[in-house]
Amino acid sequence: MRRPGIAPSRCKRSASVALLLLTAAGMPEALDGGPLEGLQGDPARGRAVVMRQSSTCILCHAGPFPNPHLQGNTGPDLHGVGARLSVPELRAQIVDARRLNPDSPMPSFWGTGGRTRVGPAWQGRPILQAQEIEDAVAYLSTLREPAPLRDATPLRDAKQ
Ligand code: HEC
Repeated sequence: MRRPGIAPSRCKRSASVALLLLTAAGMPEALDGGPLEGLQGDPARGRAVVMRQSSTCILCHAGPFPNPHLQGNTGPDLHGVGARLSVPELRAQIVDARRLNPDSPMPSFWGTGGRTRVGPAWQGRPILQAQEIEDAVAYLSTLREPAPLRDATPLRDAKQ
């Protein structure tokens, strides 16, 4: 049965979040601990964090960013993600995607644990700082609009 408003992939994910909450001794830190280090996120800075090449988000994700042809599709399109996920869920995904999905190709962005294929530039240090993660979470939570139907739009007419 399909619950209204929740895509099948989201059901699977909600199930795994629920399972994780049930099986963990306590809730995972990033789901119940509030903002990392008590920091306040800034959406404008967060947009810059998400879009800059070194944070790697757009290698795997499309979203409401310029240059759609440079955006990857390994992960879900980030359009509307703020309507799909709560702030703690967004934070948990960025902090440690593999706690939610052990097979996730998305790296842990906070801390240095749990990463297997680490480029020399990131060895022994987190990809993002706590403030940058809170900024990214604040930005992503503002993304409420669904993706435009890009595939139906001829390339020359696509908005950049
Ligand atoms: C190597 C590819 C990769 C990179 C890099 C990556 N992600 Fe992801 N991301 C994924 C995949 C795949 C998923 C789907 C869920 C899963 O498998 O963890 C995902 C899921 C998400 C989700 C949940 C989306 C939804 O609709 O459920 C958010 C939010 C997210 N990523 C944000 C980010 C941000 C922010 C960055 C950069 C700081 C980033 N991702 C970098 C691959 C990536």
